[in-house]
Amino acid sequence: MKYSDFGLVNTNKMFTNAIAGHYAVPAFNFYNMETLTAILTATRKMHSPVILSASESAIKYMGADMLLGLITGACIAPNEQIALHLDHGHSLDACIHAIDLGFSSVMIDASHLPFDENVKLSCTVAKYAHRHNVSVEAELGTLSGIEDENTKSNYSSYTNPADVVEFVKRTGVDSLAIAIGTSHGAYKRKSDDESLRFDILKQIAKQLPDFPLVLHGASSIPQQYVETINKNGGRLRGARGIDTTQLKRAAKTNICKINVDSDLRLAFTAGVRETLKTNPSDFNPRDYLGAAIKNMTDVCIDEISHIMGSKNKI
Ligand code: G3H
Ligand code: 13P
Ligand code: ZN
Repeated sequence: MKYSDFGLVNTNKMFTNAIAGHYAVPAFNFYNMETLTAILTATRKMHSPVILSASESAIKYMGADMLLGLITGACIAPNEQIALHLDHGHSLDACIHAIDLGFSSVMIDASHLPFDENVKLSCTVAKYAHRHNVSVEAELGTLSGIEDENTKSNYSSYTNPADVVEFVKRTGVDSLAIAIGTSHGAYKRKSDDESLRFDILKQIAKQLPDFPLVLHGASSIPQQYVETINKNGGRLRGARGIDTTQLKRAAKTNICKINVDSDLRLAFTAGVRETLKTNPSDFNPRDYLGAAIKNMTDVCIDEISHIMGSKNKI
């Protein structure tokens, strides 16, 4: 299936517009009807372009046919500027599978490999993807969280600005995920003093003017949902995200894609926990999943308005 048959677009024009307009396109992860509904309700209300991200494990969870059924059911029109993106593809096969399914964008995450091997794999993916007019994101540097689970390391290594031009030239990728202090999951910072490395971002942007950069691990971990979860039987002690002012600042630079998954997971879980705790006799999933959709929609709207700057950018 071709992605244009679903009304999807690749990320090329989105990113050109985002760099020129000094905003970032949100990339929200989805893995079921509830997450997809919330993301699309919010982005349609805000007239924002959006990247629908599905990881390999999310594709496995939904099943490829169900995923495509959801995308078909979303009745997407090309002028909505919606991309379907493989998040953290770990192999050429995973990227080919996604492209063959109808994804319009893929990430090849070979950042844990030595530089030359990262180049080789990213370049192979880019060649295949470009034959199908699919855009490609690669990564240099390692974020802590899920990526260091792969490498068994427990540190995050920032992207070296001296490497980026050679990497982009040799791979031919369309965007580059960089490590400047973000990390995946709900435990990103131990204190308020920890800041993103805007100095590194500035050096990278100087090397690669007008080239689209991507920020992973960019959830802000809204404390209202952490508190709701903790008040209603959960235990998330010390969960803390990236400062929203810093994310907003990043969105105005060449960072033109900002990835958010954990914030939606928290909003979802808070809605379910609160509804069930408040109504112990309720066993109608549409009640607690409805609350989850409402919370996730609110998060997307809030982040589009206050972080991404992508409202009314279609
Ligand atoms: O950055 C990764 C995303 O949060 C996806 O996580 O593989 O559990 O779907 P997942
Ligand atoms: P968070 O865990 O900060 O939401 O990051 C999501 C992400 O980077 C998806 O690729
Ligand atoms: Zn990520």
